[in-house]
Amino acid sequence: MSEKIAVLVGSLRKGSYSKQIAKNLAKLFPSQYEPEFIEIGNLPLYNEDIDTPESVPAEYTEFRNKIKNVKGVLFVTPEYNRSVPAALKNALDVGSRPYGQSAWDMKPAAIVSVSPGAISGFGANHHLRQSLVFLNMPVLQQPEAYIGNVTNILDENGNVAEGTVGFLQSIVDAYVDLLNRY
Ligand code: FNR
Repeated sequence: MSEKIAVLVGSLRKGSYSKQIAKNLAKLFPSQYEPEFIEIGNLPLYNEDIDTPESVPAEYTEFRNKIKNVKGVLFVTPEYNRSVPAALKNALDVGSRPYGQSAWDMKPAAIVSVSPGAISGFGANHHLRQSLVFLNMPVLQQPEAYIGNVTNILDENGNVAEGTVGFLQSIVDAYVDLLNRY
């Protein structure tokens, strides 16, 4: 039986390049793992006042249960102002609570940052790593995955060029090795 891998995309944009890269990555997993795209744009901004047993939003509960149900998490994200988009940080915060019941604990993760620019989302990639250290997620170290100049890589159907498939496959292979160790 296959195990689920959550795919979280940091962009809410319909035509998101990050989402297109995430779809290309998802195709490269072996049958042992089943990538599942999990929505983050519907999560109300995290607020401790509403996160009580009496008033917890249904979206929080559904999201936490989905993350608890996966073996690992693949993050594919753009960079916003040299950091992580607010929607993705919000999802991390929602999943981390209630205190002591974090959904993220010990879920092996991989981070792929994506940008039309040359710096390739390096700032977002490493800010995200900082949060994942605190959330106790073992994170893929190598190969590092910074995808820059993304508009040159994707064709009009959202597929990556042949040469890039090999690079994406090397990321997935290394991530699968990490998953297999847990
Ligand atoms: C950006 N963009 C951007 N790009 C980058 O490489 N570094 C950055 O710090 C930023 N900052 C930033 C802030 C905000 C608020 C927006 C909306 C955009 C540009 C960004 O990379 C570009 O819009 C991508 O296309 C966003 O990713 P998706 O939506 O295509 O996945």
